[in-house]
Amino acid sequence: MKEKIFIEGGKRLSGSIPISGAKNSCLALMPLSLLSDSALTLNNVPILSDVETMIVLLESLGCVVSYQKTEKILNLKMSAKPLFLADYEIVKKMRASILVLGPLLARFGQAIVALPGGCAIGARPVNLHLMALEALGASFSIENGYVKGNVAKSLKGCKITFPFESVGATANTIMAAVLAKGTSELVNVAREPEIIDLCKCLKSMGCKIEGEGERTIIIEGVDTLRETTHEVVMDRIELGTFIIAGAISDSDLEFTGGDIILLESFVDKLYEVGIEVCQSDSNLRVKRINRSSIKHTNVLTEPFPGFPTDLQAQMMALLSLADGVSSIEEQIFENRFMHVPELIRMGANIEIKGRKAVISGVDKLKGAPVKATDLRASVSLVLAGLAAEGQTEIDKIHHIDRGYEDIIKKLTGCGAQIRRY
Ligand code: UD1
Repeated sequence: MKEKIFIEGGKRLSGSIPISGAKNSCLALMPLSLLSDSALTLNNVPILSDVETMIVLLESLGCVVSYQKTEKILNLKMSAKPLFLADYEIVKKMRASILVLGPLLARFGQAIVALPGGCAIGARPVNLHLMALEALGASFSIENGYVKGNVAKSLKGCKITFPFESVGATANTIMAAVLAKGTSELVNVAREPEIIDLCKCLKSMGCKIEGEGERTIIIEGVDTLRETTHEVVMDRIELGTFIIAGAISDSDLEFTGGDIILLESFVDKLYEVGIEVCQSDSNLRVKRINRSSIKHTNVLTEPFPGFPTDLQAQMMALLSLADGVSSIEEQIFENRFMHVPELIRMGANIEIKGRKAVISGVDKLKGAPVKATDLRASVSLVLAGLAAEGQTEIDKIHHIDRGYEDIIKKLTGCGAQIRRY
């Protein structure tokens, strides 16, 4: 039977929410196991369906995986029998599957990876991944929906300038360049914390990388990598989502394991609308400034350190209850407003004009049956449901399981009336 989420809204929350390890970081770290025969241990691994999908994919490539869920530890070790085919049945579940391409080519000189195709939020091509790997010496053909990659001798370091920042293409290229002969200079790379986390793990495996978190990364290729244990960085998007849960329900919430240093532009924007996020050594909290109403603002999504596209839908839920007219311009993905019709079903007043959503704040949202369409859209409906009057019923909630560990438990622990069955 398909489960749904039911929320009785309008309750104030209080308590503390633990923040998990970052999904996006973990999905980039796991393919590092393909780069050598040495064991890779990841701690602080979130329990998510996307992590399970990556495990299935890596196992299909010959990796031996042990996942100790209660301890949140993942052990990965490549077997002596590698395989090179990333099957469409796995790849279609999760676009991050493309992240095995760079490591397979760098280590084994061959890879056949299903093209991920578009998804609800946009076409999401992989041309930049292929462009960069070609520059390093791989050649590609596209056959029957699969990218077939080959490396004649070995990859060779070079200068690669990306036309714009892409998180996935940056990760794939770094993972290939670490085993390429000589020096690679990667220009206009993504600066996301998840890229920094990837480089941190690679460095502890013995890679020579400089400049992560800046616009240019320099990599000196090495021949072999050593065993390592790495702690996955905290999930800044999960933290941002729960900060909005506190803001939208006018609650004082605390968070453990989170750090707002990775969310500065988001926290600044919240301050502008009257929400304060305070961090001390021991404590991270959100509350409304003087318990005032939410003010309107304008938001532009941008690559890090700008306002994250992965918090756009959640911010829209909040701004739908603001005083006055706000706007959100989505600059990263061309079709990331799937949550808008659902928020409108709950009483929001939102108009889409191309890549811009114009949000005229309303006094209250009202519970309604709504449908989740993608990961972040689905959680924006949870947030709207927490603030809405009456019951919200969310269908197609498998999207939430991709990226929010124990969301029901974390919210009920703070007094939210939210159930799943
Ligand atoms: C990653 C994140 C995702 C986040 C996004 C932007 C993971 C698993 N997912 O996705 O949650 O929303 O970054 O912060 O880490 N593009 C191309 N050609 C390419 C690659 C990308 O045109 O070869 C375009 C995309 O369609 C998109 C933009 O570049 O419009 C940014 O995408 P990218 O940064 O690559 O996102 P992902 O790595 O897919």
